[in-house]
Formats: sequence, structure tokens, C-alpha cells
Amino acid sequence: MAWKTGLLLPLLLLLLGPAPARSFGQLPLVLNTWPFRNATVAAWKTLAAGGSALDAVETGCATCEQQQCDGSVGFGGSPDESGETTLDAMIMDGTTMNVGAVGDLRRIKNAIGVARKVLEHTTHTLLAGEAATKFAESMGFINEDLSTNVSQALHSDWRARNCQPNYWKNVIPDSSKYCGPYKPPTVLKRDGITYEDTAQSYGHDTIGMVVIHKTGNIAAGTSTNGIKFKIPGRIGDSPIPGSGAYADDMVGAAAATGDGDILMRFVPSYQAVEYMRRGENPTTACEKVISRIQKYFPKFFGAVICANMTGSYVSKHFKINHGRSSLVRFQMGKIHGLLINTTY
Ligand SMILES: *[C@@H]1O[C@H](CO)[C@@H](O)[C@H](O)[C@H]1NC(C)=O
Ligand SMILES: *[C@@H]1O[C@H](CO)[C@@H](O)[C@H](O)[C@H]1NC(C)=O
Ligand SMILES: *[C@@H]1O[C@H](CO)[C@@H](O)[C@H](O)[C@H]1NC(C)=O
Repeated sequence: MAWKTGLLLPLLLLLLGPAPARSFGQLPLVLNTWPFRNATVAAWKTLAAGGSALDAVETGCATCEQQQCDGSVGFGGSPDESGETTLDAMIMDGTTMNVGAVGDLRRIKNAIGVARKVLEHTTHTLLAGEAATKFAESMGFINEDLSTNVSQALHSDWRARNCQPNYWKNVIPDSSKYCGPYKPPTVLKRDGITYEDTAQSYGHDTIGMVVIHKTGNIAAGTSTNGIKFKIPGRIGDSPIPGSGAYADDMVGAAAATGDGDILMRFVPSYQAVEYMRRGENPTTACEKVISRIQKYFPKFFGAVICANMTGSYVSKHFKINHGRSSLVRFQMGKIHGLLINTTY
């Protein structure tokens, strides 16, 4: 969708409750990196039913997994080179700084649910691959094929295009022309510093969600099926604490979306929270993080959402229309987005 066309990076935001601007200002807050409205509504309903911030993040992201938001979350999307869909997810509790995450999860649909089980029932942070699937089964999740006609068609089209695009470099045969299997060349040419193109045009995104409960508890989470035609075993930024998302009740939270292979090198969500800890407002924190990345990867296109503990997520640069489902275009550095502001 918008990501692939590179035109807009929509950002869905619901300002919930009759918004009495008292000590907790604009809380509760549900913020998500895309206009995945159903996910945001599900998170809100969870809060309204007495759920915690963690419950809301889990339900919101799980909604996207079930509804295959934009093909980029849940089963049946982003087949890897072998045609399999694998999932990454993470959930973080900003009250306890506890995190549960799964990477390269196979044959289990509800990745954020498994991440929550890692958080609740283990002292680990991140489980990966087939062993994460075993863990999920032991926690009662169903082992099932994640491929669909859509993901199979994507994969066979890709094979028919000589496996273009792909994520290999410096291999033989030439990965820009041929399918693998690939091998390293006997002599590796080094021609100075080169910055990789970011893979933005391939189309990829994720759901990143931040929830601030009216009591001030903050949670954040992500769920994604990664990028199309990834090399099997690839894990993106989404399940990495501090990269895909980060939350700290004492400061706020952030979540990132974009080219995960680049993003994770900058730990952007952690960095954004740290900027806010040092007194930056959410907008400046987000902008500084993006510009750090763009210094090295000028073509990088991505976004970080930032919210501070008092529920502020916009600066004076942003205009907000109050009222139900009003859309406001905004621009933040290189980030273009749609802000959907709904008051219930
Ligand atoms: C949102 O949920 C409704 C049902 O509750 C469904 O009909 C609709 O297709 C969903 N929207 C998206 C974008 O998946
Ligand atoms: C998937 O493809 C099979 C045959 O290739 C077909 O029988 C089935 O109806 C398709 N399913 C959907 C949901 O389109
Ligand atoms: C959150 O950001 C807003 C807007 O910049 C600012 O007015 C408010 O003081 C910040 N809250 C905290 C706790 O820093």
C-alpha cells in the first residue's frame, strides 16, 4: 500500500476517552505506525474492558495478525526465498522492563501471543526459529501452515523473475541476474566505502504499537512477517527490544517501521526514548533518530513514532483536528503521514 508507493507513511492514532486534560493529559493513548484502524480499535476496547496496556498491545497486534494487515502482518504474506512465511513479534512492559519476543517463528499464526508467553512464562527475552515453534506448541498454540494462495503466487512470480529482487551481494552466480544457490566468490572485490541502497522499494512494513494506560503504565509491541523474499533465517528489527519498539513508564515509548536491516543498527526506539529522557519533546526525539540514520543511509525511508509519558505525541508542527475520524496530513522531516484522530 502506501509504503510500497513511497508516497505516504500513514500513522494511525486514536486519542481516546473524553480527554479531560487533567494530570494524565491525553491518556489513555493508543498509537500505531499504520492506519490499521481495527487494531487500534481492538486495543482501545481492551483498555475500556479493564485490560492492561500489555493486554491492549497484544490484542491490537493480534487483530492485525488475524486480518493480515496490509499483507505485512500475520500469515500468508512476505514469503521468504523458500516460499515460507515466518513471523517476528515483540511485546514490552514499560513498568517492569520485561520483554517477550519471537523471531523467525514458523507455522504459528499468533506471534504476538507467543511473545506474550515468553514474557509471562520465561525469564528469556527472545526465542527464535523452529525451537520457538516448539515453545509455542507447548504453550497451546496450533502448528499450522502459514502459506496461502497469495503467498504462493508471490513466490512463484518471484522465481519466474529470476529471483529478483533479493538480498544477496558479492556472490556467484550474480544475484542481480540469477537465482541461487549462491556461493562467495574466490576473490572479494573491495571498492572503498559504499552505502547500501535500502530495500524500501521492495515494500515492507509492520505494526508497531504504543499504549499508555490511564494509570500511566506503558507498553509497546510489534508484529510482522518481515520482508518479501528474505533469506531464510532473517530476523528484522521488530522483535529486537529498542529497535522495533521500546517502552519505559518513566519516560514514554517509541516504535519504528521501515527497513529493519538498517533500523536495527541504530536501535532507534531506544534512542528516541533516551532523547525524551534527556528532555526532548516527542517530535524532536523522532526527528533526531531518523536523521541519524539518514546520515549514513540517505535513501532510508522509515518512521519512528514517539510518545512521552504524559501522552504527548505531537509538537507544535502538527495540526490536529478534534472530532471523530478527522484526517490531518502532516510532515515530519522525511516522514509523511496521515493522522487519524478519533475521540470517543
Ligand atoms: C475491520 O474489521 C471488519 C470486521 O470487524 C472487517 O469487515 C474489515 O474488513 C476490517 N478491515 C480491515 C482493513 O481489515
Ligand atoms: C487456492 O487455490 C486452490 C487451487 O490451486 C483452490 O482450490 C482454492 O479455492 C484457492 N483458495 C482460495 C482461498 O482462493
Ligand atoms: C511531553 O511532551 C510535551 C510536548 O512537547 C511537553 O509539553 C510535556 O512536558 C512532555 N512531558 C514530559 C513528561 O516531558
